Amino acid sequence: MNTKALLKSLTREEKIGQMLQIAPFFFVKHAHVEVAGHLKALNLTKKQIFEAGSVLGIGNGHEMIEVQEAYLKESRHKIPLIFMADIIHGYETIFPVPLGLASSFNPLLASKVARISALEAATSGIHVTFSPMADLSRDPRWGRVVESFGEDPYLNGQFSQAMVLGYQGQNIKDENYLASCVKHYAAYGKSEAGRDYNTVDVSRLSLHYDHMEGYRKAIEAGAKLIMTSFNVLDGIPATVNRYLLKDVLRDLWNFKGVTITDYDSLHQVIAHGVAEDDREAALRGIHAGLDIEMASTCYVNYVSELIDQGLIDEIAIDQACLRILDLKEELGLFDNPFKHAHPERALEVVRSKEHLSESRKIATESIVLLENKGVLPLKKGMKIALVGPYATSRETNGPWSWHGNNALNLNLFEALKEEIEITYMNPSEAIEDYHHEDLLAIQQADLLIFACGESMHESGEAHNRAKISLPRHQEKLYQLFKEHAKKIVTIIFAGRPLTLEPVISSDALMYAWFPGSEGARAISDLLLGQVNPSGKLPMSFPRHEGQIPLYYNHLNTGRPYDETRKNPFTSYYLDVPNTPLYPFGYGLSYTTFELGEPILSKAEMTVDEKIELKVNLKNCGPLRGQEVVQLYIRDHVAWIARPIKELKAFQKVMLEPNEEVTLTFVIQKDMLGYYNQEGKFIIEPGHFDLMIGTDSTRLMKRKITLKKE
Ligand code: GLC
Repeated sequence: MNTKALLKSLTREEKIGQMLQIAPFFFVKHAHVEVAGHLKALNLTKKQIFEAGSVLGIGNGHEMIEVQEAYLKESRHKIPLIFMADIIHGYETIFPVPLGLASSFNPLLASKVARISALEAATSGIHVTFSPMADLSRDPRWGRVVESFGEDPYLNGQFSQAMVLGYQGQNIKDENYLASCVKHYAAYGKSEAGRDYNTVDVSRLSLHYDHMEGYRKAIEAGAKLIMTSFNVLDGIPATVNRYLLKDVLRDLWNFKGVTITDYDSLHQVIAHGVAEDDREAALRGIHAGLDIEMASTCYVNYVSELIDQGLIDEIAIDQACLRILDLKEELGLFDNPFKHAHPERALEVVRSKEHLSESRKIATESIVLLENKGVLPLKKGMKIALVGPYATSRETNGPWSWHGNNALNLNLFEALKEEIEITYMNPSEAIEDYHHEDLLAIQQADLLIFACGESMHESGEAHNRAKISLPRHQEKLYQLFKEHAKKIVTIIFAGRPLTLEPVISSDALMYAWFPGSEGARAISDLLLGQVNPSGKLPMSFPRHEGQIPLYYNHLNTGRPYDETRKNPFTSYYLDVPNTPLYPFGYGLSYTTFELGEPILSKAEMTVDEKIELKVNLKNCGPLRGQEVVQLYIRDHVAWIARPIKELKAFQKVMLEPNEEVTLTFVIQKDMLGYYNQEGKFIIEPGHFDLMIGTDSTRLMKRKITLKKE
C-alpha cells in the first residue's frame, strides 16, 4: 500500500480518527473486553467510532474477525484496525511473571516466552503487544515491580531487547509475530513511595544513566511502538512531554515508530494540572508529538478545531497518521486485514502441550533457592507433609495474565502427588485449624512444606503495599510449624521482594514469584531434584521497608558506611543494617560451584582495544546444574560519582558433576562508559575495578586502566 498516497486521500477527520484507540465493543456490542482500568462511556459518534485507527484488547480470533469485518464494512477507505493487547508474560500459556523471568538471568528464555506468546496471540487475532515493560524498579512497595526486570539497568536492557526480538522476529508481516510496544516511557518505576501513578522526580542524569536503558535497548532491538507513562517528568506528564517524545525519542534516538498514550493518560493531564480541559490536552499532546490516544477523546473532539484556529499545523497530524498507516503496512494489514487470526489453528497452538512444557522448564529457571540447610532435594521415601494457603491454590499465573485461566493450573498438592506421597495436607491459613492430631501428623512427617506468600491480587497495577511482610497470620503459622516439624521447607509465592526475616530459619527457602501455568509442577521438579535451581535475584531483598529504596549499584557517598563503626558519622541506620537480607544476583544451587582466579589478557587498554578476562568455573558437587557468573565494574574516579559496582555482563552455564569450563569475558569500552544528563554516552579514561562472582557481594577483583588516547 502506498501510504503517502492513501494519506493524501483522507479527510482531516479520517486522519485524526487513525489516532484514536478504543475498545472492541464499540463496533460489536457483545465483544468480550478484558482491558484494564475504567472504561467510561466515550460519547463517540458512529462516524468517530468507524474512523478509529486501533482497538485495545480482543477476546479471540473469532471476535477479531467479527470486529474487523463490521468495521471495514463502514470504513470509506477500508483501512484495517490494528488490534493491540497486553500480552505481558504469555497469552493463554502463562509463563513466570517478568520479575521471575529476570531471575533466570537467561534472556534467551525471555525471547522464547515472547516467541510463544506471539504465536498464540497472533493466531488469536492480536497484532501488537504492550510489552516489554522496561521500567527500572527499585521499590518493592510498587505493585508493578512484578512486571519489571528489576533494579539493574543492564539486566533490564538485556531482557527488554530479548523480548522485542522474540515478539517481532525478522519481519512483523510474517505469521505468528507481534509488533512490540515498549512501556512505560519514562521512569514510571520511580513513582514516589512505591505508590502507583505517584509523582516521579528524577534527575536528568539518573534518567539517562539508570532508567532509560530498558527503553533504549528495546528501541535498538526494533520495537515498533512506545507507550507513555502516567507520571510526570520534570513536572510535565510524560504523555505530553516534548523532551521525552521529541528531543530524546526522535532527535537523540532517531525512533521512527509510533507513540501511544497509556490508558486515558492524555485526558488525565487535566488532573495533573497542566491542561484546563481536553482541548488543551489535545494541543499539548500534538505539540509533544504524541500519535495515538488510548481510551480518551481529546484528539477526535478538538484537534480539527485547533487546526482551524491555527494553533496546530496539520502537518503534525499528517506525520502521526502516516506513522500509524506505515505500521499497518508493516504488519501486512492492507494485504490481509485478518492477518493471522486462525481460530481453528488457535485450537492447536494455544496452550499446547509443547508450550506448557516450555512454561514448566522456564519456571524452573526463574525460581530462586534462598536457603538450603541440606534438606533439598527431597529424598524418595521421605514422609512429606504439606501446609499453607498456596498448597491448594491454583493462582500461580500472577497479574497481567488476562487470557490465562488459573482454574486450568495444577496446585502444588496435585503436582507433588503426581510424584510422591503426601502424608498430611492442610491448606488452612487459620492457626485454630491445626488441632492436636494435625500437629501430631506434622511431627511424624520427615519434612514439612509450607506454601505461603502474597496473593496475586496484592500485586500488579495499582496494587501497592506499604508493608511488604508475609501476612501476620502466616508468620504465626510458621512459628507453630517450626515448633513441631522436624524440617521445614518454606515456599513463597509473590510478585515482589518481601521482608523475610521471620522465615529465614526455614531449613530451605524457595522463592517462586508467580511461576505461571505450570508453576506447581516446576516447583515439584525443583523440590525433587529433577531440576537443579539456578535462579538469581533481580532485586535486592530488604530486611525492612525502612531501607527502601535499596539497591546494589548505589553511589559510595562522601561518608560511606563503615562496618567497623569506628567513625559514627557515616551513612547507616541505628536499628537496621544497610545490607539487604538477600542481595542482587544471589541464588543457591543443589551443587557447589567453584570459581578460579580471574586472569586478564592485560591490565591496560585504549578505547579501541579490548581486555579478555578468563575465569575457570567448576561444578564440584554431585548434581548437574547451572551457574550464573557475573561481571561488575567500578569506575573509581569520573566527572560524576559512579556506583560502587555495576553489572556489565553475565554468563549462565550448565555443568555436569566435576565438569569445568573456562569462561571468557571481553571487556570493551561500552562496558566502561555511562550516559550523562544529556543522554550522551561518555567514556572517561582512568582506573577501573573488574569484579567477578556468582552474586553481587562475593566478588574477586582485578584492576585495569583505560588509557588516554
Ligand atoms: C494500563 C497499563 C498499561 C496497559 C494499558 C492497556 O493502565 O498502565 O501497562 O498496557 O493500560 O491495558
